[in-house]
Amino acid sequence: MSLTTREWRFVQRPVGLPGPETYQLVERDLPPLQPGQCLVRNLVLSVDPYTRPRMDDVPSYAPPFELGEAMTGGAVGEVIETRSAEVPLGAWLVHQAGWREHAVVEAKAARVVDKGRYPSSYYLGVLGGPAFAAFVGLFRTAGFEPGDSVFVSGAAGAVGSMAGQFASLAGAKRVVGSAGSAEKTKYLVDELGYDAAFNYKDGPVLQQLQSAFPDGLDVFFDNVGSDHLAAAVEVLNEFGRVAVCGTISAYNASEHRAVPVNAFKIVTKRLRLQGFLAFDHEDLREDFDSRVGTWLENGQLTYRETISQGIEAVPAAFTGMLTGTNTGKAIIRLADDQV
Ligand SMILES: NC(=O)c1ccc[n+]([C@@H]2O[C@H](COP(=O)([O-])OP(=O)(O)OC[C@H]3O[C@@H](n4cnc5c(N)ncnc54)[C@H](OP(=O)(O)O)[C@@H]3O)[C@@H](O)[C@H]2O)c1
Repeated sequence: MSLTTREWRFVQRPVGLPGPETYQLVERDLPPLQPGQCLVRNLVLSVDPYTRPRMDDVPSYAPPFELGEAMTGGAVGEVIETRSAEVPLGAWLVHQAGWREHAVVEAKAARVVDKGRYPSSYYLGVLGGPAFAAFVGLFRTAGFEPGDSVFVSGAAGAVGSMAGQFASLAGAKRVVGSAGSAEKTKYLVDELGYDAAFNYKDGPVLQQLQSAFPDGLDVFFDNVGSDHLAAAVEVLNEFGRVAVCGTISAYNASEHRAVPVNAFKIVTKRLRLQGFLAFDHEDLREDFDSRVGTWLENGQLTYRETISQGIEAVPAAFTGMLTGTNTGKAIIRLADDQV
């Protein structure tokens, strides 16, 4: 089948927040399928924070975008043509060729998911990358134990909203989250079951964290970095653990701001700070599917999405997510699920 479709291309490196000049929406013809490939019609797209550092021309675990290159990101697509024996017509595939309406996807680089059991968007959030990162960071990197007191930054977002709930479900003594608005902190306590929450824009994080944890905290799941990380080092108990999941406060900064962390406290309290990348921990996938699948099935997880409509909406949804207009997972819907 020959097909003309639209995709977003990266055309200008942003300084600070990306604007409309960063991208171009381009029509293109897709090539015929080669053996092992599938043609998908994307149903839902994900916009994710790690995309922003990839716009800077600096080395990282993922290479920077080249100018003129098609943007990429998580997506769930329905297979409308297949040359893979493993992937039937009509299947749902999770893949990385987002930011476009249709894509030619290598079957071996994609994952077939249960069509129709949940909305397709769940495979980009509560059953996808963000929840998997929350699971890896909390249970492996931070070595969470029942009875731990847990602090989650970026707590109302896709990863954070899962990390806090996983901690509660697994027997945390106390779970506190930080987020950037009164609506979000209310959501954390009223709907996600956090014991307390604070707005990091209301005052110094250190003071708010000390008030939230008069007896100290054991685990910090950090999505933000900077003042949050520095404050947590002050408030963590002896042998406290930090899972450094992300540093979103720095992603749009034209120069990374160094935040002084009291390293002596890391020594004297015998703290452990460890970064992680969820994709290094695929061995946990089965455990994740089983435990999170059960929590979801039993109605024990609250899940919210902020949904934009149509391919034209992707850049604004991305910038919105970077500035906090999303609660829960930021999604762009391109087509209805038909099951
Ligand atoms: N290590 C891994 O494998 C892995 C995997 C996935 C994601 N991550 C990381 O996890 C973090 C969260 O990702 P996500 O997909 O769940 O995104 P998200 O939390 O759904 O969206 C980003 C949120 O960041 C907050 N934010 C923006 N600027 C901020 C600032 N200066 N200070 C504090 N908060 C700020 C905004 O919420 P507010 O309104 O609360 O400010 C916004 O909603 C990111 O750092 C990301 O890079 C890591």
